[in-house]
Amino acid sequence: MGYTDEPSSFHIRVLPMNTLEILKCSPVMPVIVIQDVDTAVDLARALLAGNIRTLEVTLRSDAALTAIRAIRDQVPEALVGAGTVRTAQQLDAALEAGVQFAVSPGLTPELSKAAQVSGIPFLPGVATASEAMRAADQGFVVQKLFPAEAVGGIGLLKAWYGPLPDLVFCPTGGVHADNMGAYLPLPNVECVGGSWLTPKQAVQDRQWQIITDLARQACEIARNLK
Ligand code: 3PG
Repeated sequence: MGYTDEPSSFHIRVLPMNTLEILKCSPVMPVIVIQDVDTAVDLARALLAGNIRTLEVTLRSDAALTAIRAIRDQVPEALVGAGTVRTAQQLDAALEAGVQFAVSPGLTPELSKAAQVSGIPFLPGVATASEAMRAADQGFVVQKLFPAEAVGGIGLLKAWYGPLPDLVFCPTGGVHADNMGAYLPLPNVECVGGSWLTPKQAVQDRQWQIITDLARQACEIARNLK
């Protein structure tokens, strides 16, 4: 995917990295829900202290867009994406807030079109071979396998590698410290995603060291696989 000059009322932009390059920045992508905007910057810094700079801030809370803006302004080293993007309108709002990539649990024709027009690195969610093929036909060869564990996880990814070897996945949903080490060596996996790095209670209690330690642990697991 790249730049398009097709007319759009919103945010056409050229981004320095494509989706694959973004996934390569970190073996793990934390799926973050921010309820209190005042926690956003410290949370991002805690993850960065643990060597994770690719952050998926989900649009599941009222605070999400303000949080994205705050992280973009105050933590320039972070790569900030919007997650749980379900509509073209949400994608536009996320672009307005300054996101550098976007993630969806699925893909609709409207969202696909909006993502293509904007040029934003975009990771659509897929759960079946047909969905993966449809997304690839629309130019999205890097995809989020969601919900990874529920739809077949490692066995599914191994089975897909035969007929769909050109597709790259970020499995998310049921992935955590205990099974990420089995996903990352797969040839069609570039990174894994999950919410385990930002436990709700730790964020609420501003226990940033817990989050830094979880991030470090995840990076260590990935490093030991090399
Ligand atoms: C997502 O939106 O990607 C998932 O909710 C994350 O799944 P997890 O909570 O099982 O990590």
